This record gives sequence, structure tokens and C-alpha cells, in this order.
Amino acid sequence: AIEQTFSIVKPDAVGKNVIGEIYSRFEKAGLKIVGAKMIHMSEALAGEFYAEHKERPFYGELVGFMTSGPVMVQVLEGENAVALNREIMGATNPKEAAPGTIRADFATEVSANAVHGSDAPASAAREIAIFFKPEEIFSRA
Ligand code: CMP
Repeated sequence: AIEQTFSIVKPDAVGKNVIGEIYSRFEKAGLKIVGAKMIHMSEALAGEFYAEHKERPFYGELVGFMTSGPVMVQVLEGENAVALNREIMGATNPKEAAPGTIRADFATEVSANAVHGSDAPASAAREIAIFFKPEEIFSRA
């Protein structure tokens, strides 16, 4: 089925000037960018987004990193978009990510791993709603 998923190009990748290279990976995989913007997340916004990780030992580091600089947030659309995006991102830990994946090619640390992608359609819907108004999404399905 045609799905939408939520994606972030994280501060490390923005800092490395590889926004376009990562967008190109999405497009080459058949994912369409149907909403996009650059933002600098506040602690409150990062806290809402990562609410499910509040009790994790790395939560402080995670929020600190995600608020350390601007990010690109985007809605990706396509057949099986949630799983497809996770496939092209590679494993959460770049050291375990398959060759040719975004994380293998643009990151080295689990704490600064270049991209985020929703893990399921339900989380995609929740995450998209945090960052985008309906009128900011331009479906091409
Ligand atoms: P993300 O998909 O954005 O959602 C949760 C994030 O937590 C994950 O990507 C990782 O970047 C981050 N993360 C996971 N494990 C660790 C860890 N051990 N230390 C720091 N950050 C982590």
C-alpha cells in the first residue's frame, strides 16, 4: 500500500552538508518528498517527539544532540514507505548498518546516526502530526 513515513536528517548530517545526498537516496529508492522544512528543535519539541525514550539512559544525550543544530524534517511517500525507508537508512547503529545504506555511508555513532525514520505506520502518523500541518503535506499518490 502507498504509505507516508516521517524522516529527519539529523544535526550531524546537516553539519556534514549532505542533505542533498540523503534526499537523493530517498528519491532513488522511489520515495517522494511530499513535505519538508528546516527547523531547530526546542527541548520541548524534542521531548514530545522522543517521549517513549524518557526513561532510557541516553535520553539526555539524545535530546541534547537533536537540539544541537538545525535538522530537515520530511514526509516521504511511496509503496511500503515505512519499511522501505528503514531499509535504506540501515541499522540504528551505523557500525552495524549494511554497506550502501545511509547510516553506513554518512554516520559512525549510534548517538549521531544521520537520519531518523518512523518504525511503524502508527508512529509515522503520530510523528508527522507533531511536525506538519495537513496543508504542509502535498501527497502525490
Ligand atoms: P532515532 O531513530 O532517532 O530514535 C531514538 C534514537 O536514540 C536513535 O535514533 C539513536 O540515534 C538514539 N540512540 C539509540 N541508542 C543510543 C545510545 N546507546 N546512545 C545514544 N543514543 C542512542
